[in-house]
Amino acid sequence: MLTLGIETSCDDTGVAIIRDEREVLCEFLSSQIKDHSKFGGVIPEFAARKHLENLLPLVDAALRECKITGRDLDLIAVTRGPGLMGSLIVGVQTAKALSQVWNVPLIGVNHLEGHLFAPLVDAEDLKPPFLSLIVSGGHTEIIDVEDFGKYKLLGETRDDAAGEAYDKAAKILGLPYPGGPEIDKLAKTGNSHAFDFPVPLKNTQKVEFSFSGLKTALLWQVKKFQEAGEKIPVNDLCASFQRAVVEALTIKIILAARNTGRVNVSISGGVSANSTLRETLSRNKHFKAWLPKLNRCTDNAVMIAMAGHNAWLRGEGRNQEVEANPSLHEL
Ligand code: KG4
Ligand code: ZN
Repeated sequence: MLTLGIETSCDDTGVAIIRDEREVLCEFLSSQIKDHSKFGGVIPEFAARKHLENLLPLVDAALRECKITGRDLDLIAVTRGPGLMGSLIVGVQTAKALSQVWNVPLIGVNHLEGHLFAPLVDAEDLKPPFLSLIVSGGHTEIIDVEDFGKYKLLGETRDDAAGEAYDKAAKILGLPYPGGPEIDKLAKTGNSHAFDFPVPLKNTQKVEFSFSGLKTALLWQVKKFQEAGEKIPVNDLCASFQRAVVEALTIKIILAARNTGRVNVSISGGVSANSTLRETLSRNKHFKAWLPKLNRCTDNAVMIAMAGHNAWLRGEGRNQEVEANPSLHEL
């Protein structure tokens, strides 16, 4: 069974073709990071326009690489939300048109379910039940995957998502967008204990996150240096900020694993590319951590194809009109 995956929820245009459950035949990604970084963040109208320019040529390239035509496909899976309205519409409308022209069924995929599938692409042994931490630019939540399609939200962020906190922290430090990779890189040569940033919600017994206070603590530190006319120790600030974020994520996964008795935890979303988070989780003794390959942490179409294929086999999405829904949340 051949599935074409299409991802356009934010600023990455992704196209991939997979065979059956997880065999990746080809994958293409056109990132707009360079275009948006000069504005310090994603400009929605610009992102939509870029998707419009990039999507069909990428679909064309994918079919050529697999030496098939659109009519050879068995399913098209497209992200229907959450995300930016204009970006989602480009993906959904294009997928609808292709589905009609080629007479291939179409399924809409929740972007979060896509992220949930990213670590599974290269992990045949990971089977439900397991816990899933999704940490991206828009979401930070822990989900109990009782089975595929049977998801229970255990807890989420009260305010900013972890990736959002990274991006805002980078802005405060005068670093380019997206902030996560920049802070991760500079933190490597910084002292993570130079600043005693508080670990948010460290002592609550609830599975929940909060990152906006941490960002404010960083802002005050930077202001102190600026007012004193001193050089800002960017690397130490990055390392200390990162220590607090990683600890906040780690303690809540341990709590969720203890509460549910789950021994396997998958981690996905852009922040799962973070080197300190990957190291910390890989050597923890409370659960086995399953991490996606680095190129599948951030948005991509393979995870959408795999999630769509799985949902289709579960019998979902039949005879359903696919519509873009920017505020789609619950899985
Ligand atoms: O999953 P994703 O590509 O898009 C959303 O669905 O949000 O995640 C993007 C987020 C950005 O906030 C970016 O700063 C963060 O992931 N990110 C990282 C790293 N790489 C990307 N955060 C921390 N460390 C990284 N290495
Ligand atoms: Zn994402």
